[in-house]
Amino acid sequence: MDQIKETLSAIQKFIHLKKEPRQKVKLTPIIDQVLEAETKKHKKKMNIHTHLCKNSEIIVSPESIKQVFEEIINNAAEAIDTSGIISVSSTNENKCMTIYINDTGRGILPEHISRVFEPYQSFNRKKSCGIGLFIARKIIEDHSGTIKLESTYGQGTSVIITLPDASE
Ligand SMILES: Nc1ncnc2c1ncn2[C@@H]1O[C@H](COP(=O)(O)OP(=O)(O)OP(=O)(O)O)[C@@H](O)[C@H]1O
Ligand SMILES: [Mg+2]
Repeated sequence: MDQIKETLSAIQKFIHLKKEPRQKVKLTPIIDQVLEAETKKHKKKMNIHTHLCKNSEIIVSPESIKQVFEEIINNAAEAIDTSGIISVSSTNENKCMTIYINDTGRGILPEHISRVFEPYQSFNRKKSCGIGLFIARKIIEDHSGTIKLESTYGQGTSVIITLPDASE
């Protein structure tokens, strides 16, 4: 029942966010906001490193993109046991922005990696709903971007996102 409720609420939020007008925004303040909120939420020793291209702009629905980073950074924080590092960096080349979110958490078993973007696939300790990355991928694809995940079990995980850059 909880799973149905969570799914419905995620879908409702997604439909609502899809209607949000797109605008030119800078990515840095969005990521900074999410990192601040997530470090407050998770009571762990998390070292945060950011290395973001200062002036990169993207044309997006700001709340949708914020949700993507909330899902990914929340997963990274969940994967850290007591202490670890989350680093977010970006590069900008040929009108394409690439964003890397790396963590030193527990990583993902090779047999689970291909399923993480599917709905209801949760392998974390809490056994959550398993729709965070599914929604994140929908939002990124809706913005003509790509998202992929690489992980080494026991060492950490990287999520790599590309989005069209809108800077002149
Ligand atoms: N950074 C990460 N480190 C380790 N495992 C991860 C990471 N990101 C995702 N995963 C794995 O992928 C699974 C799917 O992630 P997803 O965000 O879709 O679902 P969830 O976090 O389990 O639930 P929900 O996001 O709906 O609360 C997670 O359960 C976890 O096992
Ligand atoms: Mg999640």
